[in-house]
Amino acid sequence: MNNVRDENMKRINNQELANQFIDEQIKALKAQIGDNKVLLALSGGVDSSVVAALLIKAIGKNLTCVHVNHGLLRKGESESVIKVFREELGANLIYVDASDRFLDALAGVEDPEEKRKIIGKIFIDVFAEEARKLDDIKFLGQGTIYPDILESKGIKAHHNVGGLPPELNFELVEPVKLLYKDEVRQVGLALGLPRSMVFRQPFPGPGLGVRCPGAITRDRLALVRESDAILREEFNKCGLDQKVWQFFTIVPPFKSTGIKDNKRTFEYAVVIRAVNSVDATAAEVEEIPYDILFKIRDRILKEVNGVNRVLVDISPKPVATIEWE
Ligand code: XMP
Repeated sequence: MNNVRDENMKRINNQELANQFIDEQIKALKAQIGDNKVLLALSGGVDSSVVAALLIKAIGKNLTCVHVNHGLLRKGESESVIKVFREELGANLIYVDASDRFLDALAGVEDPEEKRKIIGKIFIDVFAEEARKLDDIKFLGQGTIYPDILESKGIKAHHNVGGLPPELNFELVEPVKLLYKDEVRQVGLALGLPRSMVFRQPFPGPGLGVRCPGAITRDRLALVRESDAILREEFNKCGLDQKVWQFFTIVPPFKSTGIKDNKRTFEYAVVIRAVNSVDATAAEVEEIPYDILFKIRDRILKEVNGVNRVLVDISPKPVATIEWE
């Protein structure tokens, strides 16, 4: 398969076209892979999930998925990958909890780009270590999609395991590389993946690490994770999750004064950010109704221990970026 989309290729925008694509891909994957084995880094994102589901249909147990938990995932995310792929789809899935390794290496590192580099490097190291433990792997599955090829911006650099050491020179299997994101989602639905996975909002590779600005600490990371889970739960309840493109919380590295049970507190603040965008190059802020904001505020202040203030970020991109770092 070359890297250019045929002008005659129909946009996959319904179940029938998605099923047709799946049938063709399964044939093509069987022909390309034969009886060989494929390795796939499964982050739980839409693209790698769809590739995994396609490969499971095409080659079953000859696919080995590796899910690396870098300790910067959202609440429940690894559990859902394990549930869907190992328990429901019967995939060969290796789960690696490398949280301590990532968080130890990140301790004290303040520079955002340095943080990204460390996360990217350890990800490759962990994945390569797992790959070396396996015999006879010939192919590497990747969730490259068409915009990645068109833009080649490298934003997904550490999702795509392109920087593997030279002795692990696998051939690539990239079944969705000519598809746009909406088409990948159609295919995901047709493959029977859960809607929550198929319509997952964009989530950066460095995960909650960029929402814990400055040096990541375990305590602040826990606050980001818990407050993010509350925000997601409340957005799901009122349907805003269907409308808003990306929403999350940030916990900046400073404390402020509060009062609780007649005692002075000195604790962190949670920032809520909810934006709409088409392709992330520009973004407008969602106007969250105050009654919903107050509900989220109340839950965060009550349920997340160590937080005494809730703020809302109303900055558009530009001038701000979507993430805080
Ligand atoms: P910014 O913050 O630059 O983000 O406005 C634009 C979009 O990209 C996501 N993002 C990343 N995704 N690795 C990723 O895979 C990264 O390092 C990264 N940084 C930002 C961000 O969540 C938003 O959707």
